[in-house]
Amino acid sequence: MTDDPLIRVRGLYKIFGPDPESVMPQVEQGMDKDALLQQTGHALGLRNIDLDIGRGEVFVVMGLSGCGKSTLLRHFNRLIEPTRGSIRVDGVDVLQLGRRELQEFRRHRMSMVFQRFGLMPHRNVLDNVAYGLMVQGVGRDERRRRAEHWLEAVGLGGYGSQFPSQLSGGQQQRVGLARALCTDAGILLMDEAFSALDPLIRSEMQEQLMELQERLHKTIVFITHDLDEALRIGDRIAILKDGELVQQGAPEEILSAPADAYVEAFVRNVTREQRWG
Ligand SMILES: Nc1ncnc2c1ncn2[C@@H]1O[C@H](COP(=O)(O)OP(=O)(O)O)[C@@H](O)[C@H]1O
Ligand SMILES: [Mg+2]
Repeated sequence: MTDDPLIRVRGLYKIFGPDPESVMPQVEQGMDKDALLQQTGHALGLRNIDLDIGRGEVFVVMGLSGCGKSTLLRHFNRLIEPTRGSIRVDGVDVLQLGRRELQEFRRHRMSMVFQRFGLMPHRNVLDNVAYGLMVQGVGRDERRRRAEHWLEAVGLGGYGSQFPSQLSGGQQQRVGLARALCTDAGILLMDEAFSALDPLIRSEMQEQLMELQERLHKTIVFITHDLDEALRIGDRIAILKDGELVQQGAPEEILSAPADAYVEAFVRNVTREQRWG
C-alpha cells in the first residue's frame, strides 16, 4: 500500500499570515507555533507533514482543536494552497491542476461531509442528495433514481420530499452522507462529521458508516478530536499536535505505545469499554 498510496503528502507546510515565505526559515528551524505567532504574526497551520493514505482505507486524523486537522484535509482537494510541499492523489499532482481540471477533480474524485451538515435549506432532501449529480450534468430521472437509492442506503427511504429543517440532527447528517455517496466519488472527506451529534446518535452513525464501508470500500479521511471515535472506525490514525504529525499507526499501536505525553493524554481518556472490550 505504501508503494502505491491513493493520497500522498510530502513535506507539507502551511503558514497563515501576510508573508508566509518570509517566515519559512524560522518554521524550518523549528520555532514553535506560539513563538511564531508572537514574533511574526503568522499562524503555523502545518509543519513538514508526510503521509500516505491507502486505497480503501479509513484514515483518521485526530488532535485537539486548532492542531491543523481541517487545514490538512482542505489541502487534499486544494481548498487551501500549501506554503510548501506536494500532494498527489491517485498519481495526480493536485497543485498542477488548472482551474477546469480542479473543478472536475473536485466534482468526481472527492466528496465532503461537514460537521454542520451543510444542507441547502430551501431544497428538499432528495434535491440536496442529488445536488452533486446536477452539478455533474446528470439528467433528472437518473439523479432521482440514484438519490433515492442512497437515501434508502442511509435509512431515510421516503424522506425525499422533506426539508432539512424537518429532520433531526442525526437525520440531517444521514442526508449529508447520502449526498456525499451519491456522486460515486472514491474519496470521502469527513471533517468532524459526527462531532455535533448526541453520543447515542453518534455511535449509530459510526456503525452505519462502517456497515456502508464494508460494501463500498471507499477511501475515507475522517477527522475527529475524539480518540474513542478514531479507534472505533480507523484502520490507521494520524495524530496532529500544533501542526505537526506526532504519531501515526494502527489503533492498537497508538494504544499500546503512545509516542509522547500528548498522545498518552488521549489514550488515558479512552473509555474502558473501548480499550478492553
Ligand atoms: N484562514 C486562516 N487564517 C489564519 N489562521 C488560520 C486559518 N485557518 C486556520 N488557521 C489557523 O491554523 C491552525 C489550525 O487550524 P484548523 O486546521 O482549523 O484546526 P483544527 O481543524 O484542528 O481545529 C489554527 O491555529 C488556526 O487558527
Ligand atoms: Mg477543524
